Amino acid sequence: STSSIWGGRFESGPSAVMEAINASIGFDKRLYRQDIAGSRAHCKMLAAAGVISDADRDAILTGLAQVEQEIETGVFEFKTALEDIHMNVESRLKELIGEPAGRLHTARSRNDQVATDFRLWVRDATDRAQAQLKALITALIGQAERHAATVMPGFTHLQAAQPVTFGHHMLAYVEMFGRDLGRFADARRRMNECPLGSAALAGTGFPIDRFMTAAELGFDRPMANSLDGVSDRDFALEYMSSAAITSVHLSRLAEELVIWTSAQFRFVRLPDGYSTGSSIMPQKRNPDAAELIRAKAGRVIGDLNALLIVMKGLPLAYSKDMQDDKEPVFEVADTLDLSLLAMTGMIAELTANVDRLRAAAGAGFTTATDIADWCVRALNMPFRDAHHVAGSIVKMAEQRNVGLEDLSLADLQTVEARITPEAMKVLSVDYSVASRTSYGGTAPANVAEQVARAKARFLEG
Ligand code: ARG
Repeated sequence: STSSIWGGRFESGPSAVMEAINASIGFDKRLYRQDIAGSRAHCKMLAAAGVISDADRDAILTGLAQVEQEIETGVFEFKTALEDIHMNVESRLKELIGEPAGRLHTARSRNDQVATDFRLWVRDATDRAQAQLKALITALIGQAERHAATVMPGFTHLQAAQPVTFGHHMLAYVEMFGRDLGRFADARRRMNECPLGSAALAGTGFPIDRFMTAAELGFDRPMANSLDGVSDRDFALEYMSSAAITSVHLSRLAEELVIWTSAQFRFVRLPDGYSTGSSIMPQKRNPDAAELIRAKAGRVIGDLNALLIVMKGLPLAYSKDMQDDKEPVFEVADTLDLSLLAMTGMIAELTANVDRLRAAAGAGFTTATDIADWCVRALNMPFRDAHHVAGSIVKMAEQRNVGLEDLSLADLQTVEARITPEAMKVLSVDYSVASRTSYGGTAPANVAEQVARAKARFLEG
């Protein structure tokens, strides 16, 4: 049998294999709501422009509402032979309302139709990502507020470096996810132009009103060039690159949760709802969600690459390659949605082990820099010399297998005779963090101030 949609010039229909490789309905059915919204807008515009009658418009709108309801209630029968969501909807519309259905495709092509549907879908996904990022930022700020003065070790090379506060560490991620929020907002602004009315590639001779359909669908304006309108997929690439960078940030936080929940660290405890047990080892509380978030970043990055590679080298305008844009985007959206939700749940509900964090904050001679800084300030020593003094003090503590705070004043004075009792206080982790008051530094007072600032920057308005 020949296809009823383009059957005019064909003697026989597609082979089964052709149908299998060509059909996208298995995944693009997810665009049904956007497809129907696009058809509604197009139909109203055609009537307003006098291209179709008001009676046909009303019949089409009534039919579309019924199709949408059938899909929503699960009674709609999707057919692979009808290739994609556009033809599935139109063909059912024809069954329901007859002849007027055939007028809906006037001045339109599946090329601008799919570009419009997909843009609407990605725009929703972008809005969702922003809302979910805000929820995660809220959870991080909550922990930062609670733990503005909770000391913990800061690391470089995963070696204890200098004491920081847990709140400061949380706020570092607030900055990262805040920039991610900005990237999604930028992408949304650029993607919010309407391709509908580009038709197959060249525009159309019908007196369509692209500004009307653009406004109807919530776009800022129609896209300026019809070739670009049907060819552009960089809106999807921007969404996916924003998602990929967000996923990289999520995976770093996830990795820290994996490390922090280990028996060797015990920095935080995840709630039961976000831990899993072992079928053999009764003591286990595994951070599976964090591990999976860490893993899923790989999928998101892979999907971004997949579409970049599909698009590279494609000549203008539409090529069927572009039908393969959807699965990577759908996977990214599903993955990102779930990862953000799971991370938000873990961050909101985790318990910081304050005593353990404090003990770890001082381990590894983390206040050695503070001794060097004291020598610079109190003794007017060049920092390089002060570094040497502090290094010798660390060596002494290490040889005796004690912490810096366990050394006596007399001990310190054997290294540098001018050290006074006042120097002893800089050995404490609380003194260390309280002194880091430079802009962006870890001092509890700074953290409290940055919490207020972060709320205003990311959560209000
Ligand atoms: N299903 C196609 C896609 O997702 C849209 C149809 C365009 N088809 C065509 N033969 N020009 O890209």
